Amino acid sequence: MTGAFARTLVATGWLLAAPLLLAADPPPSGPMSPGEYIYRASGCYGCHTDEKGGGKPLAGGHALKTDFGTFYTPNITPDPDTGIGKWTEQDFIRAMREGRSPAGDHYYPSFPYPSYTKLTDDDLRALWQFLKTRPAVKQANKPHDLKFFARARTFVGSWKALYFKPGAYQPDPGRSAVWNRGAYLAEGAAHCGECHTPRSALGGIKSDMHFAGSKDGPDGSVIPNITPDRNTGIGKWSKGDLVTYLEMGLMPDGDSAGDLMAEVIDNGLRYLKKEDLVAIADYMQSLPAVEHAVHKPKKKQRSEFD
Ligand code: HEC
Ligand code: HEC
Repeated sequence: MTGAFARTLVATGWLLAAPLLLAADPPPSGPMSPGEYIYRASGCYGCHTDEKGGGKPLAGGHALKTDFGTFYTPNITPDPDTGIGKWTEQDFIRAMREGRSPAGDHYYPSFPYPSYTKLTDDDLRALWQFLKTRPAVKQANKPHDLKFFARARTFVGSWKALYFKPGAYQPDPGRSAVWNRGAYLAEGAAHCGECHTPRSALGGIKSDMHFAGSKDGPDGSVIPNITPDRNTGIGKWSKGDLVTYLEMGLMPDGDSAGDLMAEVIDNGLRYLKKEDLVAIADYMQSLPAVEHAVHKPKKKQRSEFD
């Protein structure tokens, strides 16, 4: 059982994004602006670029297959007609914070705004400034191809009432600044939980299973348990192991990160400052250990770090 059929069977949830090739966003050309830094950490490129179809950066058209049907990501380049060139900063902040379009419609959570909502106003403004510097590409959006029950955006309104909490990340005063920085990056920009937390049949994140892995991950992939459980999670990894993994995709046993995680690292995490990777590791090691066995992912070779 292979390919699209298997994928449809095992797929659950909103986020079945799966670039089949390693996406290749050109590396930063110099020191990164604050907006580019958030952009790198958040993986906008991977979803909004149709690498497989040879599409231009951020011009959309990338198919995301989910249980709800197939989503085609929109063009987020500054083209005024087919992209978001006519948007104001306020439109952009509303989209990221509230999951609403300039016309007030709900976005589907296949756009991970349930995580991006945690970004601060400053980071959202900086991200907006950076997006405006990207080359404009004229490319019309492709309509989503959704199952009947998911077609109406009002359906998303009910989903949001159940599962969506809008609002910027609120630091926990009982924790260190490093921990709070790690939580901010992991829960917000880098949206680790969108892949690593299993979902209910309605596509809601199961909060008691935070970061506990999923057998029904994007593109039918198995997503490992990354809580500190010693047997089913990564409780045996040291903080240094985690940082090396996030930085280079190298696992403690010498193996390397495969498929989607390789992309998360290649396009994003590897560009982050060491202290931010340490902060993410700090936060992850503080999470409650959840015993939840998911199969070990099949290793795929990644081209770059072999
Ligand atoms: C996991 C895939 C994924 C990632 C990662 C992602 N997006 Fe999206 N995005 C989508 C999808 C799917 C939609 C369409 C949602 C809909 O139609 O309701 C969307 C919609 C949007 C829209 C609305 C565009 C319009 O024309 O209405 C904006 C703006 C946007 N994304 C910006 C971003 C930015 C900025 C980032 C990075 C911080 C990002 N996205 C990361 C999947 C993604
Ligand atoms: C787009 C989905 C996605 C996102 C977002 C994501 N991951 Fe992953 N992650 C995966 C997949 C898939 C694997 C399995 C990789 C493999 O096959 O080698 C993985 C593997 C890992 C592993 C290795 C665990 C093991 O036992 O092999 C760690 C650690 C990890 N991710 C941490 C993170 C952190 C921290 C974040 C956020 C900063 C994150 N991931 C974001 C999909 C994702």
